[in-house]
Amino acid sequence: MDAVRPVHEQLYAVIGHPVGHSLSPAMMRAAFAHLGYPAVYLALDVASASEGLDLLYRVGFQGLSVTIPHKEAALGRCVSVDEGARAVGAVNTVRRTASGWEGRNTDWLGAVRALQRKGPFKGRTALVIGAGGAARGVVYGLMQGGAAVAVTNRSPERGQALARGFHCDFAAFEDLGTRSFDLVVQTTSVGMTGQPDALPLPPGFFRAGMTVMDIVYRPLWTRFLKEARDAGCETVTGLDMLLYQGMAQLEWWTGLKAPEEVMRRALEAALE
Ligand code: ATR
Repeated sequence: MDAVRPVHEQLYAVIGHPVGHSLSPAMMRAAFAHLGYPAVYLALDVASASEGLDLLYRVGFQGLSVTIPHKEAALGRCVSVDEGARAVGAVNTVRRTASGWEGRNTDWLGAVRALQRKGPFKGRTALVIGAGGAARGVVYGLMQGGAAVAVTNRSPERGQALARGFHCDFAAFEDLGTRSFDLVVQTTSVGMTGQPDALPLPPGFFRAGMTVMDIVYRPLWTRFLKEARDAGCETVTGLDMLLYQGMAQLEWWTGLKAPEEVMRRALEAALE
């Protein structure tokens, strides 16, 4: 019998539950292949974040992308986390250290970089729609970039709680008609394939000159984003946020510059 050959590839994976629809394998495999980096990247459906993280550490994985619903639990399973992960209350990336997993959150960075392609937003006003985990990352990122942030949400109590936690403004849905913002970011599941697509925004809310981003990327052009585009707004799709959070993950794991266009094309192909 042949001797078992040692595996030289480093092991990476995305963990989630479910994880089958994740676009990270397509994006990361394309990047590793382009860089000639000896790594395999798997998609692992893991029901328990803590058990999954412990097992994959023992198996020898070098790094993991962490997705829904494990981002909050992953925070508590890391031996150290950075300030962004602590502020957002979620870890979406872990890296192996001798003593355990080190955690970071690159989601907020992905949102910042995607929006900054349309120009700096220091000192500009921003509205974040939603109050879930995704909203927390976006609010943190916008505040880090120096925007004056207001949160709005279907259930006001949840929106107010988020706004209090981040010391930012809360705007009731009913008051949006009287306010205008430079940036607007939609962070709810509204518009996602199979979900309702009507956000209760007042008529005429979108105005030319606004920069509008939707973090939903299936479909790429949500009703929300199409309406913004038709009103003359600058638009940013959820694919950009996905791309930039992934590039930040890869760079942290490998220390190499992530190949942006290769990763973008892989994401676009995987979405087709
Ligand atoms: P995640 O952590 O992925 O952001 P979540 O915690 O379930 O997800 O939060 C979902 C967000 O989408 C919430 O802000 C939710 O509003 P509520 O707090 O009122 O539930 C918002 N949301 C979901 N469906 C919505 C809809 N049809 N219209 C408006 N907001 C919606």
